[in-house]
Amino acid sequence: MPGMKNTWYLPPIGSPKFSIPTPALLIDRAAMESNLECMADFFRHRSAKLRPHFKTHKSPQLALLQIEMGAIGMTCAKLSEAEVLAEAGVENILIANQVVDLRKMIRLAELARGTQIIVAVDQETNLHQIAEAAHEAGSIVGIVIEVDVGMGRCGVPPGEACLPLARLAAQLPGVHFAGLLGYEGHTVFEIDPHRRQENAFQAMTKLTGTADLLRSHGLEVEIVSAGGTGTAFLSGDFPGVTEIEAGSYPFMDVKYNQLGLPFRQALTLQATVISTPSPQRAIIDAGMKALTTDNGLPVVAGLPGVKLLRLSEEHGLLEVDPEQARFQPGDRIEIIPSHVCTTVNLHDRYIVMQDEKVQEIWTISGRGRFY
Ligand SMILES: Cc1ncc(COP(=O)(O)O)c(C=O)c1O
Repeated sequence: MPGMKNTWYLPPIGSPKFSIPTPALLIDRAAMESNLECMADFFRHRSAKLRPHFKTHKSPQLALLQIEMGAIGMTCAKLSEAEVLAEAGVENILIANQVVDLRKMIRLAELARGTQIIVAVDQETNLHQIAEAAHEAGSIVGIVIEVDVGMGRCGVPPGEACLPLARLAAQLPGVHFAGLLGYEGHTVFEIDPHRRQENAFQAMTKLTGTADLLRSHGLEVEIVSAGGTGTAFLSGDFPGVTEIEAGSYPFMDVKYNQLGLPFRQALTLQATVISTPSPQRAIIDAGMKALTTDNGLPVVAGLPGVKLLRLSEEHGLLEVDPEQARFQPGDRIEIIPSHVCTTVNLHDRYIVMQDEKVQEIWTISGRGRFY
């Protein structure tokens, strides 16, 4: 209707949990704050500092809260995420990824005029191009050389192989050689804590060893960045590591919950039962447009005998043990995402809950920013 604001799906502040139009992403504020505090507390008196990854929550509000609690800036994966952060007032941003397209490099250089931007590089031509773009824009882009510490994704092998790139970054106008980045993503989800520690320490030995090698050739290495939620307390305590890029810890998910870390589940998807074809089956209004399955199926929270079996585009199929649970259309359930980062990317907003009531609504303005 003309003039009618199409926001009926936004619950009024103060409304109770089970009146929210679904599917909806809910933040349990108390659990999230406990997670933020737990991580901030670990880094409060350590030489390594926290630079959380934006890839998980994609929310400028939450980024600013992390900085208020002691984070030294933000990490992100994409230039367009860095733009969202800069616009929100985040002054120190590390793009832990390669920016290669020429138009993107020009935007990167322009962004660096007003914000401290550091970007990962693992290739000489890319470094020359970034330096040229920054020189022309009249800005300075910080450079970290990405080192492959065992994950087998991007990066230069550890050791001598990093030296030519680091020297070049230290010489070229338009860029500033800031240090090294080596994400131990191959072991962040390792369930065996001993193996996780061993793998993380091996990776950090390679990374900090490379930093020492560069220093022995007269290069100044300020940043040695690594770490995910599963290794933050390990790599964050490793001598020579200066910052940690953990992302998932404010919210957590099924995959990370298996590790027994001291973080609570703070993000759930609330869904509504829309059909109960039999006592053994219930259908919810959340499918693949609301939940992701790249880390396996999400899990129904706090309801024994109820299992999410399958997702199609707009439906989720629950297998129900009638001895333990019974549903009617209109009933609400909460689901724990199996992979928080990709799930958040499907949603426009968080409903922030305090004491089971809607306290705030936050726009997820970093979602879909994969440019
Ligand atoms: C480069 C990089 N750093 C850090 C992280 C850590 O994130 P999380 O804490 O979610 O494991 C990731 C996750 O994908 C990453 O790609």
